[in-house]
Amino acid sequence: MSLEGKRIAITGAFGSLGAAVVEAALAAGAQVAAIDRVAAPADMHDALAIGGVDLADTAAAKTAIDNAAHSLGGLDALVNVAGTFRFETLAEGSPDTWDLLYRVNVRTAVAASKAALAHLPDGGRIVNIGAASALKSGAGVGAYTASKAGVLRLTESLAEELKPRGITVNAVLPSIIDTPPNRRDMPKADFGKWVKPQQLAAVIVFLLSEQASAITGALIPVTGRV
Ligand SMILES: NC(=O)c1ccc[n+]([C@@H]2O[C@H](COP(=O)([O-])OP(=O)(O)OC[C@H]3O[C@@H](n4cnc5c(N)ncnc54)[C@H](OP(=O)(O)O)[C@@H]3O)[C@@H](O)[C@H]2O)c1
Repeated sequence: MSLEGKRIAITGAFGSLGAAVVEAALAAGAQVAAIDRVAAPADMHDALAIGGVDLADTAAAKTAIDNAAHSLGGLDALVNVAGTFRFETLAEGSPDTWDLLYRVNVRTAVAASKAALAHLPDGGRIVNIGAASALKSGAGVGAYTASKAGVLRLTESLAEELKPRGITVNAVLPSIIDTPPNRRDMPKADFGKWVKPQQLAAVIVFLLSEQASAITGALIPVTGRV
C-alpha cells in the first residue's frame, strides 16, 4: 500500500499506537508530522516532531496543525490517535472523569479535525481511533465508552459533512491493544489474542490510501482475537 507523496499529521504520535502509525506511514512513503502532548522522543526517524501540544486547546491545535501543514508543504490527511483510558465505577469514581475523558478523547479529535479542514484538499483523509467497547459498554468503563461513542458519532457526522469534498472520515475500533502498559496491567492475560499496534497501523494506512477512496463513515472493529 503506497502513501507516496502524501503529507500526514498524526496526533498522539509518541504513544504506543501513534508510534506504530508514524512508522507505517513513513514506510509507505508518506511525509509525517508527529504531534503529541508529551515531549518528542530522541529518535523520530524521518518524521517532523511537534511535542508539548494540548490538542484539546483549540488555539494550540490550530497552531500545531498549521505548523505541520506549513512544514510539509500542505496536508493530505489527519490521524487522530491522541486519547486515554480510565477505569472507574460510578459509585467510586468522580463525575470529573467524564469531563476529562470527553476532553482528551473527543475534543482533541474535534479541534485537530477542525484545524485540518483548512488545509485538507478534496479527496483528503481523516482517520479516528474509537474503541470496540464504545458499541456496548460495561461496568467501570462508562466514562471511557461514552467518550469513544462521541468519537464514533463525530466520525459519522463529519463523513456526511465532507462527502461533497470527497474527504473520507473513518474510525478503527480496537479492543485491547498489545502495548507495554496493558501487559503490565494484565500480566496473566494471553497477549497473543490482543491486536498489535502494527496490525492497527496497517488498517489505518489502507484507509489513508487511494484504494480506500470509496469508504467513508465506516466504524471498523480491529480487535485481534478478543
Ligand atoms: N491501549 C488500548 O488498549 C486501546 C484500546 C482501544 C482504544 N485505544 C485508543 O487508541 C489510542 C492510542 O492508545 P495508546 O495505547 O497508544 O495510548 P498512549 O500510549 O497513551 O498514547 C496516546 C498519546 O496521546 C497523547 N495525548 C493524550 N491527550 C492529549 C492531548 N490533550 N493533546 C495531545 N496529545 C495527547 C498522550 O499523551 P499523555 O501521555 O500526556 O496522555 C500519549 O502520548 C487512544 O485514542 C486510545 O484511547 C487504546
